[in-house]
Amino acid sequence: MKIIKTQSPKQKPIGKIKFGTVFTDHMFVAEYSKNEGWHNERIQPYQPFVLDPSSSIFHYGQGVFEGMKAYKNKAGEIMMFRPLENFKRMNSSNGRMMIPPIDEKKMLDGLVELVRLDQDWIPTGEGEYLYIRPAIFDCDAALGVHTATNYTFFIIMSPVGAYYANGLAPVRLFVEDFYVRASKGGTGHYKFIGNYAASLKASDKAEKAGYDQVLWLDAQHKKYVEEVGSMNIFFVKNGEVITPSLEGSILPGITRMSIIELLRHKGYKVSERLIEIEEIIQGIISGEVTECFGTGTAAVISPVGVIGYKGKDYALGDGKTTGKITMDAYQSLTDIQHGDAPDAFNWVYKV
Ligand code: COI
Repeated sequence: MKIIKTQSPKQKPIGKIKFGTVFTDHMFVAEYSKNEGWHNERIQPYQPFVLDPSSSIFHYGQGVFEGMKAYKNKAGEIMMFRPLENFKRMNSSNGRMMIPPIDEKKMLDGLVELVRLDQDWIPTGEGEYLYIRPAIFDCDAALGVHTATNYTFFIIMSPVGAYYANGLAPVRLFVEDFYVRASKGGTGHYKFIGNYAASLKASDKAEKAGYDQVLWLDAQHKKYVEEVGSMNIFFVKNGEVITPSLEGSILPGITRMSIIELLRHKGYKVSERLIEIEEIIQGIISGEVTECFGTGTAAVISPVGVIGYKGKDYALGDGKTTGKITMDAYQSLTDIQHGDAPDAFNWVYKV
């Protein structure tokens, strides 16, 4: 693979960094054309793309992405968490969006090279890591609405701390009962860029009302809890961990599936099923629902302190303290991720 190194390395950031605002010196790029397939894999200095204004990504948005991370263990070894799962999910998203499949192993090899090259950018402070963003966009320069024949795949990397501004403090969720994120048969099950654009109106509404994120309900009945957009959602009810089942409109999170497996392995009862928002609200009132947390690559395990529903706030416990099972999930997962606990599931990938 061709590697073009930067002649002007950037200054590394010092102190707290806002999520996803600083990028490393290099990026990985590959291109797709009908005749050549995926080709021209290379690492090059981080730089802008030059695109024709008629490029279809600007108009019809055939684009998908992934979120991954790399960090160092105490011995200074570089690790990633289940990276092949992300490239597999990217191919699932590609299938839905009519984007040609990538060679998962080849792209992982490219990522490994990139992480090795920019390894000095991996932050080592508490809760910090190198966030990795692979993405694909279509780039046919033509305005007809059809499946594109040219695509660009790229990977950029960003040193980050906690995703939410308040770090690990419990977040406040707003239950959206007008706008919807995704419907069955649509794109909610995939990491499609449009899902995120479609979520912004409700996020703005939630933020203006004093919440951090939106808790989405199903599009058909506005009754069942789905996910948070940046994370999947879990509740603890009568000591049992419950999470919405994947019904076709929820993103199949890699942290989600890992936490289900990990908590079951630790002896917790974990169920995936339809969960009515009313069941959660009534459960908080009666004291049966004691904890709520979100899972995601960026969010890791984010405790939820308050759920706002139909004009009223419902606090989990005192709304400020992270619950016991949430803490156990966070600690157990991050210990495996950082090499502080045995990797019983073979999830850690050493670079
Ligand atoms: C991730 O957790 O990696 C995500 O992609 C969620 C968000 C930052 C869009």
